[in-house]
Amino acid sequence: MITLSIIKADTGGFVGHSAVHPDMMDGARRAVQRAVAGELLVDGHVAACGDDISLIMTHTYGPDSQLIHSFAWDTFKTTTAVARELGLYGAGQDLLSDAFSGNLRGMGPGYAELEFEERPSEPVICFLADKTEPGAWNLPLYKIFADPFNSAGLVIDTKMHAGFLFEVYDLYEEKAVLFDCPTDLYDMLMFIGAPARYVVHSVRSKALGEVAAATSTQRLSLIAGKYVGKDDPVMFVRCQSGLPAVGEVLEPFSFGYTVGGAMRGSHHAPIMPVPAEDAHPARFDGPPRVVALGFQIKDGKLIGPRDMFADPSFDEARRQANRAMDYLRRHGPFEPHRLPLEDLEYTTMPAIADRIADRWTPISGPLVTTGPQTDAGRTR
Ligand code: F6R
Ligand code: MG
Ligand code: MG
Repeated sequence: MITLSIIKADTGGFVGHSAVHPDMMDGARRAVQRAVAGELLVDGHVAACGDDISLIMTHTYGPDSQLIHSFAWDTFKTTTAVARELGLYGAGQDLLSDAFSGNLRGMGPGYAELEFEERPSEPVICFLADKTEPGAWNLPLYKIFADPFNSAGLVIDTKMHAGFLFEVYDLYEEKAVLFDCPTDLYDMLMFIGAPARYVVHSVRSKALGEVAAATSTQRLSLIAGKYVGKDDPVMFVRCQSGLPAVGEVLEPFSFGYTVGGAMRGSHHAPIMPVPAEDAHPARFDGPPRVVALGFQIKDGKLIGPRDMFADPSFDEARRQANRAMDYLRRHGPFEPHRLPLEDLEYTTMPAIADRIADRWTPISGPLVTTGPQTDAGRTR
């Protein structure tokens, strides 16, 4: 059995919240090389999307391993030190605790992990996003694993035809539910259509009994009890041979669908599929970006990556995202560009509400009288 872990954190931005500094990437790469040489990891690759570093790792310790999580924590401490030295922005932003204790749950970094028996050929796509939230994967996961207009295999491939089980988390009440699709499809959509609260955590093939997709589901805002940045999720999807084909897995990203995130984590904006070199959200701290790194895993070794969105067939999605961004931006501080109040994570709302609390009155008559005015009372 092999475990694939993507563990990610924002440990400082260059410039502002837009990218990771090359010296931080070098520090992380050196740590991963040492861990491979020391046989903690079978293999590892360091990638970035926006201001988040992702450690893509294979090992034999299973999910939630103290060894692997503490290695990631120490690596993020190292990149934080580099960020501090260079005065980079928000150094150590996602390291919410002073000390590591057991595993990363509730400590700030996000992670998607899965243990599986490696198939003779094991194609996997790792998706990394910046300036959005874990529910951003709901729409593509629905399309990949439940929508025959996206995935022809749901109709044509007998193994896919049997359907998939979706494990969905309620992030507010910390509980999980399993939806058996296609039977439960309409029920499931009622929930995952609200991605700020309900998030697909994993997807399992019914025919193969194999987990096909796993996502990171932490909500930093809830962990920290205050806004500390959007969660900037990761996920990976195993492909082919009874699971969705690579092209079916990438297809949902040909549409720049709207996600919560962008500026101050408080706006709806289109997600833009980009090659790694373009994953630097700048305009209005957006549009939110997604990068897709493809690997073949062989004896636990990560053969790759291939930068899957470095492909002109995603140009139209990028153009569409830019057009949608123009459209939404013109709403300024109005919904639906600005998130609804209950989802605003970075807000002066409580302070403003407090300040004007005693100015509210029951609606019983006009507050501003409209009777005859003298010239003296008129404002010009
Ligand atoms: C969004 C994000 C940025 C910041 C914004 C303000 O996830 O990280 O949009 O919220 O740049 O940042 P501060 O408050 O650090 O100045
Ligand atoms: Mg940041
Ligand atoms: Mg980020």
